[in-house]
Amino acid sequence: MEKHFQKITRILVFFFLIIQLVACEVEQGTNIKEETSPNLFTESNTESAPNDNLKIGFSMDTLEEERWLKDKELFTKELEALGVEVDIMIADEDAALQIAQVETMISNGVDLLVVVPYYTETAAAIVEKAHSAGVKVVSYDRIITNANVDLYISFDNEMVGEIQAKSITNLVPKGNYVYIGGSVTDNNAILLKKGVFNVLQPFIDSGDIKVVYDQWTEDWTPDNAYKNMLEALEKNNNQIDAVIAGNDGTAGGAIKALEEKGLAGIIPVAGQDADLAAIQRIVQGTQTMTAYKPIRELAKRAAELSVELAKGETIEVDRKINNGKIEVPSVLLSPVEVNINNIEDTIIADEFHSSEEVYGN
Ligand code: BGC
Repeated sequence: MEKHFQKITRILVFFFLIIQLVACEVEQGTNIKEETSPNLFTESNTESAPNDNLKIGFSMDTLEEERWLKDKELFTKELEALGVEVDIMIADEDAALQIAQVETMISNGVDLLVVVPYYTETAAAIVEKAHSAGVKVVSYDRIITNANVDLYISFDNEMVGEIQAKSITNLVPKGNYVYIGGSVTDNNAILLKKGVFNVLQPFIDSGDIKVVYDQWTEDWTPDNAYKNMLEALEKNNNQIDAVIAGNDGTAGGAIKALEEKGLAGIIPVAGQDADLAAIQRIVQGTQTMTAYKPIRELAKRAAELSVELAKGETIEVDRKINNGKIEVPSVLLSPVEVNINNIEDTIIADEFHSSEEVYGN
């Protein structure tokens, strides 16, 4: 009897162990499924980060001007908020390096490239390389010419030049003008100049305005602008009535030269970008105006459209711009004039700079 009982106990223990083992396997199986099932994974992640697998490369020319630091920060934030991974490389004003960096980003598997080209023309190679790897290209702030660019997003650069020239001709409708341009390697510099001369031309034709000096500024550097302005002053025995500069960096260089001749604050100067130093000069009275471009808006719109393009969606844009090869789908935002009368309502209201930064209190 006892033997019989032991046998039954052994059988029960055996069955109990088997049940435990099977239960354990089932549990493990469920866990594994939860961790690896693609369906469960995508479903649970769709709502929080819909673009989780997208990677966008941002190839920048330079961080020299203050604005590019804002572009870098704001564009990255916008993309990350959309759940996108961002890979950023800075070419430091070197066309060949920019191409090499883009190649690296392509082999790192970016789904889309956003490019601020250093050299408008040689950047066409970037588009070709990207396209042959199936990667679309967005031209950010500066257009890439003679290439099949997928999207161009910027501010209306011709309008920037027009705003500058209108502001200065209102103050100085007659006299000797100096034009300190941007870098000739940058298509924006060409558009800015076009805008400036659209406004100046009737005054030039009537003989009221004479452009006594007109020069590009290599690499947009304030130092080259300073040298050009000194040359302009010397060649014209300081008989200058107004200065229009490509941006605030070059305006700063020109104002330094004017300061050395005791002319800062006497001769009106225009710039663009609303750099903090330029706004402070407007407050001090050595710079007349700057064309402010709300970078936050550019970054937001560029991020949204880039994600749509990267996902293969059709994008809605308002205009097309010919880049010498195709009609590029384009978005152009509007610049705003900032002068001594509207600093609070523009850049301070937009938190582009704080009141403390501008006024120092
Ligand atoms: C940009 C300006 C900038 C300049 C120099 C231009 O293409 O539009 O905002 O100041 O480049 O970097």
